[in-house]
Amino acid sequence: MAGRLAGKVALVTGGASVPGLGSATAIRFAEEGAMVYLTDRDGGGAEKVAALIRAAGGKATSLAQDVTSEADWDAVMALIDAEQGRFDVLVNNAGIAVLRMIEDFTSDDWKLQNDVNLNSVFYGTKRAVLAMRKAGNGGSIINISSVAGLFGVPACGAYAAAKGGVRLFSKVIAVECAKDKIRCNSVHPGMILTNMQGVAEEDNAANYDATLALIPMGYMGDPLDIANMNLFLASDESRYVTGTEMVVDGGMNAT
Ligand SMILES: NC(=O)c1ccc[n+]([C@@H]2O[C@H](COP(=O)([O-])OP(=O)(O)OC[C@H]3O[C@@H](n4cnc5c(N)ncnc54)[C@H](O)[C@@H]3O)[C@@H](O)[C@H]2O)c1
Repeated sequence: MAGRLAGKVALVTGGASVPGLGSATAIRFAEEGAMVYLTDRDGGGAEKVAALIRAAGGKATSLAQDVTSEADWDAVMALIDAEQGRFDVLVNNAGIAVLRMIEDFTSDDWKLQNDVNLNSVFYGTKRAVLAMRKAGNGGSIINISSVAGLFGVPACGAYAAAKGGVRLFSKVIAVECAKDKIRCNSVHPGMILTNMQGVAEEDNAANYDATLALIPMGYMGDPLDIANMNLFLASDESRYVTGTEMVVDGGMNAT
């Protein structure tokens, strides 16, 4: 085991999906010595990933958590505090993609998308800041946004509103918490091969190939590409990086 995160306690939400950005991040963090709490609304799926980590010699605990539930957030954070007495890294990763053109969007679609992808980030970030301040070691909050939070992608109305909100919210937290050595950044994946891409393709068949053609590198990214960015942001190597957007997209945002 290498030790880029040795001694750090991390929480990664949405960690059950394989292939997924949360599971890849949790595995990478554990490889670098972190104690990882891995949560998901699919508690059984999260436990499978945690078991893989432990079998490889890493430290991981899984918990069932719905990120839209403030009571669940309170329970998860209380458990980490009781078990570890410190909290160093939060990755707000859990998310869903509800992709519709505006004429087909319902108010329920809009509310659900914003609840899971934006409100949850507020719930988690607030609690992380309080826990990090209490422990007094600083910390890193990594909010997973999207390239859809940077420029207009058809059918992404609610998704983009949520992800754009995540981007600017992260900047405010960075400015408010810099004095506490708590850093906060947003990560903007392009198209990465995970289970979510299957949903995106199904929901948005008419635009899917056109979106794929926007990737200058010509292929989708691997979850490890995002996990490695998250690792950099979680580690002290990024100690002077806060309030910014880290784009990992094979060049999409450059066109
Ligand atoms: N894959 C991509 O191309 C891509 C691109 C840009 C941004 N993202 C973002 O990256 C993050 C991870 O995406 P992914 O591709 O790994 O998706 P995924 O669907 O493979 O995994 C998402 C995980 O989040 C969990 N989840 C969903 N709602 C939840 C809830 N209410 N409470 C707890 N867990 C919940 C799911 O059970 C699942 O395990 C998301 O925020 C997504 O918007 C992904």
